Amino acid sequence: MRIVKDIDELRAVLGEQRRGGQRIGFVPTMGNLHAGHHSLIARARQCCDFVVASIFVNPTQFGVNEDFSRYPRTPEADARGLAGNGCDLLFLPDVETIYPFGAERAVRVQVPDLGDILEGASRPGHFDGVASVVARLFNLVQADAAIFGSKDYQQLLVIRRMARDLGFAVEIIAAPIIREANGLAMSSRNQYLDAGQHAQAASIHATLRWMTGQLDAGVDSPAEIEAAAMQRLAKAGFDPDYAVIRCAEDLSRSQQTGKERAVILIAARLGGVRLIDNLEWEPVNARP
Ligand code: PAJ
Repeated sequence: MRIVKDIDELRAVLGEQRRGGQRIGFVPTMGNLHAGHHSLIARARQCCDFVVASIFVNPTQFGVNEDFSRYPRTPEADARGLAGNGCDLLFLPDVETIYPFGAERAVRVQVPDLGDILEGASRPGHFDGVASVVARLFNLVQADAAIFGSKDYQQLLVIRRMARDLGFAVEIIAAPIIREANGLAMSSRNQYLDAGQHAQAASIHATLRWMTGQLDAGVDSPAEIEAAAMQRLAKAGFDPDYAVIRCAEDLSRSQQTGKERAVILIAARLGGVRLIDNLEWEPVNARP
């Protein structure tokens, strides 16, 4: 696996692949890779000939009181893992490479509405930072397909919207959430949890399952299910931010709960750690 830090070299390597007719797959990450990330590389391998990953801890998507400086950085182990998992090229840029005029003065991409609710409301500016960096990475890599995890469901929708609105010719592919044995969605932030919290954190997935169970049973008042879910999370020791049932297409409040594809999203704090997770749901009669 080749490791590239600068843009000219990236363009040269990828240009050669493109001229050779190779289909290029791209997996952007912030590193500290786990099985969730590796599943995206495997997905890229299925549909592409040449797989590019990037590792860049993007300063513009962290709020002032968030964990940018202490975000886990493990580039050597990540590179070994990627090389062993069929990644062909790792793009590992510096902040100056991605933001030549400085992160503070960077040209920004905003995704109105979709970027302002839920995670966007709790973390103002977060999705501007995500859209701004992913737009740059898309421009640099010019991939045929880019793979994103459903773990960050709202991020996936924000990126789809951004790519379509700005006319990027990249196919956005969603990959399923990879979980630990107790149901906890894998995340680089899980390592901030101690062993007790790690066990406790299983309640998020359990609550999501309980909420889909309510929908399966025909309960059609989302407000009722959401309020009960918030109580469950609080009882399990969380400081819940939201537990909501939304339209799977655009995260709007559904007028037809129980009759259309939905996504259930939870964000909750445990100790100082903010965890997010979600489950997609579809009406029983629409299932294969
Ligand atoms: P990061 O948190 O490193 O995640 C990189 C990709 O891995 C995202 O598409 C994310 O949804 C996916 N992912 C993380 N945990 C997963 C899991 N348990 N199962 C499946 N996929 C999982 O998301 C980001 O980085 C950044 O915001 C980024 C898009 C790179 C922009 O900076």
